[in-house]
Amino acid sequence: MNYVQLNGGVKIPQLGLGVFQTPDGEQTVNAVKWALEARYRHIDTAKIYGNERSVGDGIKASGIARGDIFLTTKLWNADIRAGRTREAFEESLRALQTDYVDLYLIHWPADGFCEAWSVMEELFKEGKIRAIGVSNFHKSHLERLEKTAKQMPTVNQIESHPYFSNQPLIDYCFSWDIAVEVWSPLGGTGGNLLQDKTLVSLAEKYNKTPAQIVLRWDIQRNVVVIPKSTHRERIISNKAIFDFELSEADMAAINALNRNQRVGSDPDHFDF
Ligand code: A2P
Repeated sequence: MNYVQLNGGVKIPQLGLGVFQTPDGEQTVNAVKWALEARYRHIDTAKIYGNERSVGDGIKASGIARGDIFLTTKLWNADIRAGRTREAFEESLRALQTDYVDLYLIHWPADGFCEAWSVMEELFKEGKIRAIGVSNFHKSHLERLEKTAKQMPTVNQIESHPYFSNQPLIDYCFSWDIAVEVWSPLGGTGGNLLQDKTLVSLAEKYNKTPAQIVLRWDIQRNVVVIPKSTHRERIISNKAIFDFELSEADMAAINALNRNQRVGSDPDHFDF
């Protein structure tokens, strides 16, 4: 497993399991357990996913020590707007059945995010969170945060995949020493990215799957990647990306697939 060093010194495994749209209950418990059995050590959830309790159950069922797992959850927009960051964080801890998280993120730049950030800074100082960060922040949101923050985010988690590389924002984050995590790396649920002709032919060339080609591209772009799957064999195969390397020309060919085509909401225009 590769790691990315966050500003502040915490190390994050570069590949994790995402559980957005993984239903609460058996499916989440199993996905988490299978991932940990396959030596994933990084799980990414959020309060709004409604599956934190099952994530906690999956961790318990795996028998892997909590301290060996990098666990992320996120502060939901309604809690940001209502000024209940501390309460929401405690609710997440209870659901996850843990007394700390490795990474806590502001999920979207909802009104009140600067105030929420200062509460997260306190929780960090209290030792309840190992690293704090944001998600779905554009340059303008980071600039606003910078005006009141005592410390800048360690991470920005954003949409990025070959059809929406989001590379200028990634480069901007890197210029601030902010690590980048990418969501919907495989183009999200119901997309057609993995049937792309270039990706299919690269998969044949490297004797890998299109998903492995995309995830390897992310590893070589130095971003953290959190593919979601509820299928055991996919969870296992999505991790088999550390035994080959894409050439520079093939990295460029994947970069060239960018069409600025989002599958999720634009952080400047979200209505939830
Ligand atoms: P499933 O959960 O049924 O496996 P993203 O991480 O971009 O949001 O993409 C997740 C989507 O891609 C899900 O619909 C997931 O479906 C599917 N998926 C995950 N891993 C693979 C894979 N190795 N091959 C094909 N589809 C995959």
